[in-house]
Amino acid sequence: MKLGIVGTARSRALSVAALLAAATFATGCDPAEARVHTGDTLFSNNCAPCHGAQGEGLAVAKAPAIGGLPEWYVKHQVEGFRQGLRGTHFDDIQGMRMRPMALTLVNDEEVAKVSAYVAKLPPANPATELQGGNAEAGAGYYGTCAACHGTDGMGNEALGAPPLVGASDWYLRDQLEKFQSGVRGAHPKDARGAQMAPMAKTLPDGQAIKDVLAHVATLGKR
Ligand code: HEC
Ligand code: HEC
Repeated sequence: MKLGIVGTARSRALSVAALLAAATFATGCDPAEARVHTGDTLFSNNCAPCHGAQGEGLAVAKAPAIGGLPEWYVKHQVEGFRQGLRGTHFDDIQGMRMRPMALTLVNDEEVAKVSAYVAKLPPANPATELQGGNAEAGAGYYGTCAACHGTDGMGNEALGAPPLVGASDWYLRDQLEKFQSGVRGAHPKDARGAQMAPMAKTLPDGQAIKDVLAHVATLGKR
């Protein structure tokens, strides 16, 4: 592995595996039972190294704040990474870091547990970082977005659209660029990504992305 941060996560996962193996040996339990983890344990071992102990995100790892995202959205994304609908495009460096982490969850039950745990963490509502966005111009662009993400930016489960408020603006910008270039949302089985990708293309340039995100920042917190 080239990426140091992946190495860290992996060596932690390995040391946990070693501990479990030792515990199993000592108590004589069935090894299959040793794999029954709570959402808390799964999150601390497999997710917190990048997303932070409270899911507050870690900018240097380009890992977004995920605490308090709706359970249905977290589950859908983790499943998407596992199935290769997201995080398999050759230019998706961050997605390719995330995908093997989603694959550390061994079954649907673990995906469900960790998704429920993430949803209960407090939203981090990170501070804005992007400079030079014009919120007024952004409000104009946001008219299109509101149809799915809501005028309040809180998302819409029925449409599969996640909340945009309470996310890091740099992460949202990166995602909009990925949707525009086909790095995200272009997999033939990614139905929701396919709905979002043409919407990202309604933003003509980098300034428009900053503008719309400046407007999202005025919508408040989660
Ligand atoms: C090696 C670091 C790393 C680890 C460990 C990791 N992630 Fe991620 N995760 C990322 C990165 C980087 C992204 C951003 C991907 C992108 O830019 O498309 C991400 C994205 C996500 C997203 C998408 C958020 C959104 O708004 O669409 C979810 C959900 C997520 N991770 C959940 C998890 C869960 C659950 C775990 C533990 C099983 C986990 N991650 C472990 C690095 C990591
Ligand atoms: C037709 C409905 C629809 C419209 C309109 C729409 N989106 Fe989306 N958007 C979605 C869906 C669905 C997803 C989730 C895609 C997935 O599951 O991977 C999404 C995801 C996103 C994401 C990724 C969030 C994350 O946490 O990774 C961003 C950023 C985003 N939309 C911004 C926008 C902006 C800005 C606009 C307006 C220019 C917009 N969307 C318009 C449906 C829509």
